[in-house]
Amino acid sequence: MPSFGNRDIAVDLGTANTLVYVRGEGILVSEPSVVAIDTATNAVHAVGEEAKRMIGRTPATIAAIRPLRHGVIADFEVTEQMLRYFIRRVQQRRWSRPRVVMCAPSGITEVEKKAVVEASLSAGAREVRLIEEPVAAAIGAGLDIAEPVGHMVVDVGGGTTEVAVLSLGGMVVSQSLRIGGYELDEAISGHIRRVHRMAIGQQTAEDIKIELGSAAPLEQELMTEVRGRDLTTGLPREIPLGSEEVRDALAEPVEAIIGAIRDTLERTPPELAADISERGILLAGGGALLGAFADRVREETGMPAGLAESPLTCVCLGSGMSLEEYDAMDRLDRPFERSATRRRLRPSRAPAR
Ligand SMILES: Nc1ncnc2c1ncn2[C@@H]1O[C@H](COP(=O)(O)OP(=O)(O)OP(=O)(O)O)[C@@H](O)[C@H]1O
Ligand SMILES: [Mg+2]
Repeated sequence: MPSFGNRDIAVDLGTANTLVYVRGEGILVSEPSVVAIDTATNAVHAVGEEAKRMIGRTPATIAAIRPLRHGVIADFEVTEQMLRYFIRRVQQRRWSRPRVVMCAPSGITEVEKKAVVEASLSAGAREVRLIEEPVAAAIGAGLDIAEPVGHMVVDVGGGTTEVAVLSLGGMVVSQSLRIGGYELDEAISGHIRRVHRMAIGQQTAEDIKIELGSAAPLEQELMTEVRGRDLTTGLPREIPLGSEEVRDALAEPVEAIIGAIRDTLERTPPELAADISERGILLAGGGALLGAFADRVREETGMPAGLAESPLTCVCLGSGMSLEEYDAMDRLDRPFERSATRRRLRPSRAPAR
């Protein structure tokens, strides 16, 4: 079906960031998945970067909300509003309805899948197809996943970690973990609260992780000053903090991520495992940018491992690239479409063979 001047888009709806790819143009939106809502009227006050700056700084009448948790929709209405805002931003005409490829975590349930489809349709999509995030990450990183060769992808996002072995275009073994960058941030703020009796905000914890965090010893260990509120006096205070201490604080969630990788490797058929040990493990997602993460993965698995060229964008890029094959996908499965009677999902038409 021709798209009547609508621009097909691909959306990586992430716990931390939402990215939108427009067919023929590339990634046009990359913003935090945050919406600021006026609690009295439910009106949207701000979306994305602007709303993120409001977290922890809002007056009582405004709430800054992250509508996704662990890669799935936690607040349906707010997710829909956020998607509508981003979809409109890339459409040239106000009422156009694009065809959309949405990324979904591989560990998602049918109900969670349905929520993503429904949210996209009511946010203005004409048709929706889902693509699994590890598959999208692999395509976006330039791997040829159609060949009969094993590839391993590890995507550490804000709220999930996905480990998958791909071959012949599909997932052979996979594991999805509800641990991502936010759990690392929480481990840091929990540590500072317990050991230094000081409270720090979510943003400060993330800043510490990005600046000093690591999964293995660094060539040059680092030091910084951290500001927070003393839990006993209630007054602002500053403490020195080193990267070794931060690494200890992060040990548990990092261990869980490494455990999932090892576990998946153990379940991988030998031929594919041999391919992976030759080609290496692809690391994607913002969480994979943690200091010395690749070193730690190499050390614990004995396999080569390397970061994708662009870990934060490769999932969106890969789903965008899959748009080029959108029409060919019609032969495989049917997209979800908005029915005439509103809000009921039905397959749109018989597959064109
Ligand atoms: N340099 C860095 N070091 C460590 N962590 C980082 C770095 N840069 C970004 N991150 C973390 O990456 C996470 C966001 O990654 P990403 O955008 O891939 O997640 P997402 O796709 O929104 O989440 P999910 O896939 O779990 O739904 C955040 O937790 C952020 O703190
Ligand atoms: Mg992601």
